[in-house]
Amino acid sequence: MPDFLDLSDIPSRDLEGIIARARETKNSRIGRANGETDADTRLGGKLVALVFEKPSTRTRVSFEAAVRQQGGQALVLYGSEMQLGRGETVADTARVLSRYVDLIMIRTFDHNSLFEFAEHADVPVVNGLTNKSHPCQIMADIMTYEEKRGSIRGRSIAWFGSGNNVCTSFLHAAGRFGFDFVFSGPVEMQPCSEAVDFARENGASVQFEFDPYSAVVDADLIVTDAWTSMHDAELSEKDKLQKMLPFQVNGDLMAKAKPDALFMHCLPAHREEEVTSEVMDGPQSVVFDETENRLHVQKSILSWCLDS
Ligand code: CP
Ligand code: NVA
Repeated sequence: MPDFLDLSDIPSRDLEGIIARARETKNSRIGRANGETDADTRLGGKLVALVFEKPSTRTRVSFEAAVRQQGGQALVLYGSEMQLGRGETVADTARVLSRYVDLIMIRTFDHNSLFEFAEHADVPVVNGLTNKSHPCQIMADIMTYEEKRGSIRGRSIAWFGSGNNVCTSFLHAAGRFGFDFVFSGPVEMQPCSEAVDFARENGASVQFEFDPYSAVVDADLIVTDAWTSMHDAELSEKDKLQKMLPFQVNGDLMAKAKPDALFMHCLPAHREEEVTSEVMDGPQSVVFDETENRLHVQKSILSWCLDS
């Protein structure tokens, strides 16, 4: 079954093809209203379930818009309102939904639940974020980088703050798309070691740099994310100030970066924590382009699942 679970599972050729197709679809929509369908409606006659066990703004709206613009229909389901929230198993839920829909996107907690869901579903499954990874986001980020600066191959990405799920998918992408990665964050927030190994085994350089000013100098792309993810316990004010604030992306840090370096954040941002408004709203920030590209790249991901 062609599931879209992690970038590490999918060949580089396929990932590059998904982005190329997303670019074409995006260009073909110029001048169309958001409520109009695409010229090429590849999801015509398809019903897609979007299952959320965690909150979402971008993933929920961009997937639903993607399905509708591609001529399909979307059903948005919240885990807490399903029998899943009352103890029906993940496996049974997957089997049941597979009798009604053609594809399922799921946002959940435990990554193993995603695997279990995909194993028991008879239709393709797309990872809409787990505690461990967020591959759709990083596909939109690669598309965004390449729109602005050309191929990401051989470039250097500096990640600041928490080595979280989005960071893991960036490391998978480093291995798949051939770019280098520098992590700058506190010792207790280091990224997943398996993802670091994956990137290195696939030819990417991965470095750890505890001085953020050293980490930023050679970067073509500067990235951060919330210090506390949805599945994490809230950090104390003391930890935020002492452990995390040194890795904040602010005007001083950006002043040390290359003048043409871009800034990305998957959003939602916690302004004045991991990033200042000066940077978020500044000339190097492409955060809302990343948001928009979720829509375009996810159309392509859905088609890849159904066509493969
Ligand atoms: N970036 C992202 O996935 O945002 P949401 O949590 O709003 O879906
Ligand atoms: N790391 C964040 C990403 C949100 C899109 C989280 O998991 O909450």
